[in-house]
Amino acid sequence: MREVPMKKVLVVGGAGYVGCVLVEELLAKGYSVRVLDRLFFGRDALGSSLDRVELLTEDMRELDPSHFEGCGAVINLGGLSNDPTAEFDPRANEELNTDAAIRVAEMARQADVERLVFASSASIYDQGVGQEAEDVLMDEEYPVDPKAAYATSKLAAERRILPLAGPEFAPVAFRMGTVFGFSPRMRYDLVVNTFVKDALSEGRIHVFYGGSMWRPLIDVKDAARAYVNALACDPQLVRGQVFNLAAGNFRVSELALRAQRTLQKLGVPVELDIDYSYRLVRSYRITSQRAQRMLGFSPRVTVEESIEHMVAEIRRHGYTDFSHPRYYNIEWMKVLEEAAQIVSRHGYVLSQLVEAPEPARQPGVVSRISSARTGRAG
Ligand SMILES: NC(=O)c1ccc[n+]([C@@H]2O[C@H](COP(=O)([O-])OP(=O)(O)OC[C@H]3O[C@@H](n4cnc5c(N)ncnc54)[C@H](O)[C@@H]3O)[C@@H](O)[C@H]2O)c1
Repeated sequence: MREVPMKKVLVVGGAGYVGCVLVEELLAKGYSVRVLDRLFFGRDALGSSLDRVELLTEDMRELDPSHFEGCGAVINLGGLSNDPTAEFDPRANEELNTDAAIRVAEMARQADVERLVFASSASIYDQGVGQEAEDVLMDEEYPVDPKAAYATSKLAAERRILPLAGPEFAPVAFRMGTVFGFSPRMRYDLVVNTFVKDALSEGRIHVFYGGSMWRPLIDVKDAARAYVNALACDPQLVRGQVFNLAAGNFRVSELALRAQRTLQKLGVPVELDIDYSYRLVRSYRITSQRAQRMLGFSPRVTVEESIEHMVAEIRRHGYTDFSHPRYYNIEWMKVLEEAAQIVSRHGYVLSQLVEAPEPARQPGVVSRISSARTGRAG
């Protein structure tokens, strides 16, 4: 594998949950980093990286060629990051996860960027309730036909981005399983993180429908390392390819048990609250052998290690205000949209110190079409 020191990488969505950890990893590997982000979750999570990165507070739908200048690679993590937010604003989902993602790739190619990694999702394999009876380990060739808006938008983007591959441009898509672990931009709306949050806040882990469903999972640091590997490996091997990315597949019930044991060892009393009612639920498993073979992807962090680290870091950073909406993407988007509606009237909340926004660009936060949003937020 080729190391590429001091290449500049543009990370779209680099101030998010995966982004903050990835930026640290890139800097540690000697890359210089430009982050382009709307900063929905603020900038503070970039922490000590802040004074070492170039930060562009821009909307990924409004890129211009200067944003790509001097970059050898682009990693696109921007947009809506789960089912509830995609369903909350289908228009924004299409604009960000499909249209803007394609545009980022097209503009990267025009700007002579050599490589692009697009954050897709393993939920593309999810065929919806009722299909889990097949219970097969799915590789990248497995036929996909997602039903949910989020997965559909990611697949549509993949299908336009990967054919842009050429001798000078190597686009890659990562179908990531659900990520877990601590990030300075913390999310408690991801299954393992939710278990830890529930344990710390109420001493209980809630498991629904017996927890028999499978989920592919990966620690956030392992995910970050995989992105860095994708920049360093031979472009001939990866151009135009999809890679599944998961450290393993776990039944939710097993995860809950493992979380309980780990937390108990750390002195956190936890009971399992298992709902044994029966309902068909989504369930899917993937294999990451292609990434192991071609990217040298080799996950290092176990669920147990990740939970231990998470508990320590949550306490160290004081992220114990567990009910704050910023930790839950859908809750936070609703808050922002409601705030945008209020601010749009006067251009400020309490004092007029901040410059009033240009009326033409307001008030939509996630979606820019304000008339389509009225009455939906909050
Ligand atoms: N976290 C997971 O479990 C997971 C799993 C599979 C795939 N993914 C994908 O990985 C990527 C990163 O996920 P994450 O968990 O870090 O999500 P996140 O929501 O924490 O981060 C997304 C970032 O994109 C930024 N953003 C949103 N809209 C923007 C816009 N219009 N212009 C510029 N920036 C914008 C946000 O401010 C945020 O910083 C996403 O594409 C997600 O779909 C995540």
